[in-house]
Amino acid sequence: MEVRLDDLAAVVEQTTDPAGFPHAARVERNVLVYDAAQARATSSSDRAALAAELVRALTDGPGIVVFEGAFPDLAVVDRVTEVFDAIIAEEAATGAAAGDHFAPPGANSRVWNALEKLAVRDPEAFVSYYANDVIALVSSAWLGPGYQLTSQVNVVRPGGRAQEPHRDYHLGFLSDEQAARYPDHVHALSPVLTLQGAVAHTDMPLESGPTLYLPFSHQYLPGYLAWRRDDVKAYFAQHHVQLPLHKGDAGFFNPAVLHGAGSNVSRDIQRMANLLQVSSAFGRAMEQVDRARVVSAVYPVLRRGGLRGDELEAAVAAAAEGYPFPTNLDLDQPVDGPTPLSQAELVRHALAEGWEPAALDATLDAHAARRRTTS
Ligand SMILES: [Fe+2]
Repeated sequence: MEVRLDDLAAVVEQTTDPAGFPHAARVERNVLVYDAAQARATSSSDRAALAAELVRALTDGPGIVVFEGAFPDLAVVDRVTEVFDAIIAEEAATGAAAGDHFAPPGANSRVWNALEKLAVRDPEAFVSYYANDVIALVSSAWLGPGYQLTSQVNVVRPGGRAQEPHRDYHLGFLSDEQAARYPDHVHALSPVLTLQGAVAHTDMPLESGPTLYLPFSHQYLPGYLAWRRDDVKAYFAQHHVQLPLHKGDAGFFNPAVLHGAGSNVSRDIQRMANLLQVSSAFGRAMEQVDRARVVSAVYPVLRRGGLRGDELEAAVAAAAEGYPFPTNLDLDQPVDGPTPLSQAELVRHALAEGWEPAALDATLDAHAARRRTTS
């Protein structure tokens, strides 16, 4: 796949035709805006048509939908905001302030795994917040049943700078070099494995820096290899759109849409979004395998030698977990680039340096411990 700015430009220079999206309240800057109250009132016979329309919006359409009033009871949002603020203050006090994959540290606060932290700290708030039909509607429309919800809070404070434009998980979290090793059809697959969403916990006028989007950019197949290029960044800077949101609105987008948080140039708006990452039920193997146990058992054999390099690599790939996610991002931070170390990388490292089995076992234990959400 070759990246050419002209090809990307040809794909994104489309206009959203409201006639194709009869359930939408309006089109604003090429983005489809839905009235959540109206969506809630949709008759059961029309639900399937609405779900199909949302899928069209996220594929053939601009790739972004906003639901105004997704959380009609703002007291529910405020209660969860208080919990998030308390977690942020606590984590800052313990020096565990979290970094961000796509923006310089500083004026941002992050809460990783906010889903679990909210559930444990305030189960009542969790239930009233996530008993949300709009999240369920869009998630099941895009991913089908059995989806898995995770949430990461992002607060961008006054002075907080914009993120670099990027695509999201899965392929969006890999370096260009890693992403290029996946075949083209996997580049087409990655966006249907997740859905990205964001719930506005504060009003977000433009000056506070709501998310910048390049509508239709998910339709550009080589896009996972494009977004680090200077010409693409310059194009994004000129052509992105930005929509103001109100507290309780929720936006959802195809994870392959080029996007990034905006700069907060307001004087006093602590812009808080609860970012939702919803995963397909299918992003998992059929069987549970204790791979640390497998690696520990076979490492002495691998270490003995006698295999060609490619044979050794094949054996490591069969034994060890080759992907670093899911993990605990509070503890298992990326070392270099956006991804933490995978178990397979640890094994390769141990083999290259000739570690004793006991040393690898200790490292695997520490690796597993960093990835658990409880100690
Ligand atoms: Fe993102």
